[in-house]
Amino acid sequence: MSGQTPTITPTATKPGPGPVAPRMLTGDRPTGRLHLGHYVGSLANRVRLHKRYESFFIVADLHMLTTKNSGQDIATVYHNTAEMVLDSLAVGLDPAHSVFFLQSAVPEVAEINLLLSSLVTVPRLERIPSLKEMARDAGKQEMPFALLGYPVLQAADILAVKATAVPVGHDNAPHVEVAREVARRFNRRYRPVFPVPALIHGDVPSLPGTDGQAKMSKSLGNAIYLADPPEEVRRKVMRMYTDPARTGPGVPGTVEGNPVFAYHAAFNDRPAEVADLAERYRAGKVGDVEVKQKLAAAINRFLAPVQERRAAFEADERLVAELIVTGTARTRREVQRTVADMRDAMGLAAAFTEFQRQARRAPAAAAPAAPAAM
Ligand code: TRP
Repeated sequence: MSGQTPTITPTATKPGPGPVAPRMLTGDRPTGRLHLGHYVGSLANRVRLHKRYESFFIVADLHMLTTKNSGQDIATVYHNTAEMVLDSLAVGLDPAHSVFFLQSAVPEVAEINLLLSSLVTVPRLERIPSLKEMARDAGKQEMPFALLGYPVLQAADILAVKATAVPVGHDNAPHVEVAREVARRFNRRYRPVFPVPALIHGDVPSLPGTDGQAKMSKSLGNAIYLADPPEEVRRKVMRMYTDPARTGPGVPGTVEGNPVFAYHAAFNDRPAEVADLAERYRAGKVGDVEVKQKLAAAINRFLAPVQERRAAFEADERLVAELIVTGTARTRREVQRTVADMRDAMGLAAAFTEFQRQARRAPAAAAPAAPAAM
């Protein structure tokens, strides 16, 4: 039962075999449409990698509850989930190679969360800076218990399908690190059940917001969405924050750390154009207007095929519903197997199984006679 096996190999997993193909799991909370920051941080990697893995995409509505849990918030899950699945297909996920699932419809994830929560300490979680930022951004005076446990729930998602790879953006990297630690700890304490999932980073560390803040985010209102029409993209780009020290087109500007150039680097498919703009910008020989117009055009070139695919998928009215329903059923079967593996490895099922066995036993022939009443 408690064999000490220090080496961790997914194939050593008993009694359920580990995944035959490498598995990828990643996803998002259903808080709204996906934007360019999501693309750079994680979607691009998902598209690039998803056919090499068995790929699971979680819509993490239970994670959403850690900061947004009013009835109104929860009522947005249906719509936001559909939008996010469409956005994912639009950027190039092949529905035939993608398992989409809704977290709250796989209740066994909550059980795994509970079982893993004994393997993590509070100070370990308190040291994760992203959680404090999330609490602050959500206007919380004190840290909600569930928000402190956010990375443990994320570890539960990842380990529930025995994922081997997790492509995520910058802010999520510390959470995947918790998942890796928890997997190792579980394997060491009980028996090797989990592969230790690899973290896969985005190419660009993170995309700034249109307002120059470090992060593009819906809640900060500084995002360009994948579904924004060309006019909207142009409007947002023309208002973008650039080098604040540059008071006119004749003044030399700074390219490094300038969000307009960060977007050019990420989305402009014409590197010669970008190099030329950067050179003239540094020399004070180009206006911000031209730099921005060329950026808007580049983003719209990037988004045009994305939006065309989106429209095609949207025309198929039942597609998203079918993907979610079949994907969730498929995921749930996997997760049920994982819970059974975990309970077995922990010896957690043994006590009740023994009680059941005894309860089923035929009553002994000569039960000790009750003392006769005098
Ligand atoms: N934490 C992710 C977000 O920022 C969502 C998420 C939940 C996730 N579970 C996951 C990402 C598992 C990767 C793997 O929205």
